[in-house]
Amino acid sequence: MIEKISSGITGLDEILDGGFPKERTILIAGPAGSGKSTFGLSFLVHGVMHEDEPGIYVSFDESLDNVRNDALSFGWDLKALEDQNLLAMIDGFSERAGLKSPEKYTIELEVDELLHELIRLIDSIGAERVVIDSITALALGLEGERQRRKQILKLSAVMSALTCTTLMISEMREDKEISRFGIEEFMAQGVVVIKYKMAHSGSRSLQVRKMRGVKHSMREVPFIMSPEGLAVYPDEDIYGDV
Ligand SMILES: Nc1ncnc2c1ncn2[C@@H]1O[C@H](COP(=O)(O)OP(=O)(O)OP(=O)(O)O)[C@@H](O)[C@H]1O
Ligand SMILES: [Mg+2]
Repeated sequence: MIEKISSGITGLDEILDGGFPKERTILIAGPAGSGKSTFGLSFLVHGVMHEDEPGIYVSFDESLDNVRNDALSFGWDLKALEDQNLLAMIDGFSERAGLKSPEKYTIELEVDELLHELIRLIDSIGAERVVIDSITALALGLEGERQRRKQILKLSAVMSALTCTTLMISEMREDKEISRFGIEEFMAQGVVVIKYKMAHSGSRSLQVRKMRGVKHSMREVPFIMSPEGLAVYPDEDIYGDV
């Protein structure tokens, strides 16, 4: 029997038959602006606030100041959690952008360095939840499919051995492939796809495409982001299907 970890998204644990499989790596895929980063932060904030599970957020695509500011619009004060050592934010953005990092924890776009910093922080704050935003950026820094497969698999295996549940965020081009390199979804034990429909005043949907070892629903369901939090509606139809 697989142990579960709550997703923190209202309604999603029901779809997942109890939550994400614990100590596994899950891919969260979606196009630009679909809500991937917010989904990841919600998973971490829920862990800290309600499950006594510290977390680590790794940002390769945005400055941490932007991430902290955007999180405030959902009522999440990340800085306060960081100050209590319940959340660690790793800056993988500044170096990539050629800027000097103002942050406490910084890394280059490199798997071994990422693992090294993660291992150190997991030990120091007791993190059980990790979000890597994004695996697309990390994979872009690797040469060739063989290296990409090897490194992503290594990342997933090490996180699992460290008893962390990891969300890897994947950039998806509108309705086309789930991941940039077409291999990330095979390296992960689960895949959740978030979609954003421009019609119907921009409604979002979510679908669990795969979750090894879990009897999950395959339905594409409405996904709502609001200042009150994130929620999916397992029994409702996505707009347009009604
Ligand atoms: N307080 C809020 N309530 C509801 N929706 C919001 C709020 N703040 C931002 N949003 C929506 O969230 C979107 C951004 O979400 P997020 O950054 O998580 O997406 P993403 O998939 O990570 O995007 P990217 O691919 O650019 O990284 C905004 O474009 C906006 O539509
Ligand atoms: Mg994002």
